[in-house]
Formats: sequence, structure tokens, C-alpha cells
Amino acid sequence: MRVPLELRRAYKLLNHGPTTLVTSAAKGRTNVMAAAWTMPIDFDPPKVSVVIAEGTFTRELVDASGEFTLCVPARAQLDLVYAAGTDSGRDEDKWAALGLKAAPASRVKAPLVEGCVGWLECRVLPEPDVQRKYDLFIAEVVAAWVEDSVWKDGGWDFSAGDDSRPIHHLAGGVFFATGERLQARKP
Ligand SMILES: Cc1cc2nc3c(=O)[nH]c(=O)nc-3n(C[C@H](O)[C@H](O)[C@H](O)COP(=O)(O)O)c2cc1C
Repeated sequence: MRVPLELRRAYKLLNHGPTTLVTSAAKGRTNVMAAAWTMPIDFDPPKVSVVIAEGTFTRELVDASGEFTLCVPARAQLDLVYAAGTDSGRDEDKWAALGLKAAPASRVKAPLVEGCVGWLECRVLPEPDVQRKYDLFIAEVVAAWVEDSVWKDGGWDFSAGDDSRPIHHLAGGVFFATGERLQARKP
């Protein structure tokens, strides 16, 4: 079940570097694309950065709306994540083509992708030069959600099964799944 996550803990959804799905909505369309180049950049209020390349349909919708979501997909969604990062919403409705279900977000128009294990609703903090030069978008996280079956004691816990582990893109459609949990000793 999707449950709200305190905003000051939102960085934990991206701290381990998972591949994400970026959703967007504008001009009467919604879209979804894969993005590996994301990272948290502040705790409270939480901020994130993501590269959204010029020429993608996502870029057009984010430029128009100033909003997006970052959803953290699970290993069970591997093939559709790769397809969402290969096909363009300009040519097809990826929701229908990939059998993706959208759920309404709470603070932005871009929808959440069902079946993911984490969700961040984001509003762009405009930095036109950085966006134009580097395709880099900085955004404030205005709502965060997590799948409660993989979240225990304030952090990820994938001991219940491998299918819900996030995935990490190497290149060319090869991914790792999030691995073993290791606790370092205090120095
Ligand atoms: C695993 C994976 C990760 C990707 N990461 C990014 C990324 O961080 N930023 C980006 O602009 N494109 C990234 N891409 C490429 C876009 O997802 C791709 O160009 C997509 O087709 C754009 O879709 P759209 O035109 O519907 O927006 C990635 C692709 C894959 C397969």
C-alpha cells in the first residue's frame, strides 16, 4: 500500500541511486520516461535534480508544466522501464502500450506509476541557464510516498522478496537490482 513519507525523509528514496520513471502532464497529455541520472540535493525542504534531455517528450511537458514525479520502479517492472526509456511518448501513448497504470498525485498534475515502490512529487525550481546548458532540472519535492511493504523502521527493507527491489542501470538495458543491506560500524 502507498503511504505518505515525511518530506524530510524523502531523500532516502533516491539515496541508493535507483533508476526512476519520470512522469509529466501538460497540453492534455501525460507521459512517462526512464531516468537514471537523478539525485537528492537537499534534506529539508527536500530537493532533487534530474537530467531531462532536450528533445524528449518529457522535456516538452515539464517545460510547459513546471512539474514532474520521480517514481522508483521495482525489479518486476524491468522490461517496461527499459521500454519507457527507449520509446517516445511523442509516437505512442506509453501508458497503454506498456500496460502502465496511472494514479493521481496529491500536489502535482503528473500522475504516479502504480506498481512502483517509491514516489516523489516535484515542482521545478526554475534555473533556465542550467536547464538549457546541461538539461539539468532542480526541483522541490512537495509530496513523497512509499510502498509500506518494503519500508521498515524509517528505511528500505527488501527481505520479503526480490521482485520489489529497485533497479540500477549499467548501460544498454543491463541492470543490477538493489542488493544486500550492510550496516557499517560507527567509526
Ligand atoms: C535505463 C534508462 C535510463 C535513462 N536515463 C535518462 C536520464 O536520466 N535522463 C534522460 O534525459 N534520459 C534518460 N534516458 C532516456 C529516455 O528515457 C528516453 O530518451 C525516452 O525515450 C524519452 O521518452 P519521451 O520522449 O517519451 O520523454 C534513459 C533511458 C534508459 C533506458
